[in-house]
Amino acid sequence: MGAEVVIEGLTKSFGNQAIWRDVSLSLPPGEVSVMLGPSGTGKSVFLKSMIGLLKPDRGRCVINGVDIVTCSEAKLYEVRKLFGVLFQDGALFGSMNLFDNVAFPLREHTRKSEAEIKRIVLDKLDLTGLQGAERKLPGEISGGMRKRAGLARALVLDPEIILCDEPDSGLDPVRTAYLSQLLIDLNAQIDATILIVTHNINLARTVPDNLGMLFRKELVMFGPREVLLTSDEPVVAQFLNGRRLGPIGMSEEKDAAQMAQEEAHAAAGHSDGSSDEDLRGVVPQLEPTPGLPERQAVRRRKDRVMRILHTLPDAARQGIVDSLTQDDRIRYGLTAPTPRPRVDDTRETGRV
Ligand SMILES: Nc1ncnc2c1ncn2[C@@H]1O[C@H](COP(=O)(O)OP(=O)(O)OP(=O)(O)O)[C@@H](O)[C@H]1O
Ligand SMILES: [Mg+2]
Repeated sequence: MGAEVVIEGLTKSFGNQAIWRDVSLSLPPGEVSVMLGPSGTGKSVFLKSMIGLLKPDRGRCVINGVDIVTCSEAKLYEVRKLFGVLFQDGALFGSMNLFDNVAFPLREHTRKSEAEIKRIVLDKLDLTGLQGAERKLPGEISGGMRKRAGLARALVLDPEIILCDEPDSGLDPVRTAYLSQLLIDLNAQIDATILIVTHNINLARTVPDNLGMLFRKELVMFGPREVLLTSDEPVVAQFLNGRRLGPIGMSEEKDAAQMAQEEAHAAAGHSDGSSDEDLRGVVPQLEPTPGLPERQAVRRRKDRVMRILHTLPDAARQGIVDSLTQDDRIRYGLTAPTPRPRVDDTRETGRV
């Protein structure tokens, strides 16, 4: 099972430019989480802080009992081996072919034989759909292939924690759909803790167990997917619907006067060019490709979420209860063992 990451009060600035402050969240072991946020809110800085490439001003980031903000360089080096990271730009070495790029962490961090390295590298290239491309240089392949090569390289050390910075950027919608499935399949196969930064609404709605959002230098929310997918919080709703109407502006946040003006414009029936369809609501989560093992995180997450159910907003609670199977309902004591047709009092009262 993947490692848990516990972040408390993490704060980061560059000189006098505050990036975000007091970020606290836990990535539950083996679950998939997505971090959303407008451009420039510090998502990449957040990922780099989690692996100790950037040093936060204060706060803790605890992995397997080690706080990587304050630990020694030697400890940090150890903890970093738990991570597989796909950087936003892919970060491939331009002069090395894909095989050598993907083999790099193995040659750097292990004493494996070249035969063993070859087996692992070809396996990861196969997993990410790059079989046959191992002799190509990064400059000779498409952006999507480079992303996948970056992902293959992130996987070679059997990471317990995988960080992916915009794995879908530059991919067409079909490739993004395959990538979404790949991330879920990967989670089913290795049970790693995964954090994905993305702007892709569809991926955010269908892949993760948990969703979070950074805005205005703060973590606005982080929690089970049902919480954000049903949220009335203006910035979350705006983002998930991809609308102009709302607190997020082109370059930075809008002020109250501008928001009021735009709302009046919309109320007068003017479209902002986005679909009127409200994309909020709990949509089914992707499941592993048939033939693969079940995701072990699913049961753990259900138990975890049911324990905190009473603390969640009504709409999220309803979404969670609606997604339970009959067996789950029995397990959590929500219904009598024999199903009573059309009696669903949780739906009526919102209580469970
Ligand atoms: N090493 C650095 N030194 C100084 N400022 C930095 C550094 N890295 C990032 N920043 C600043 O931190 C802010 C957040 O950058 P970051 O790349 O984390 O945003 P982001 O949320 O990942 O955006 P995007 O969605 O466009 O990738 C930006 O204003 C950026 O200029
Ligand atoms: Mg970024």
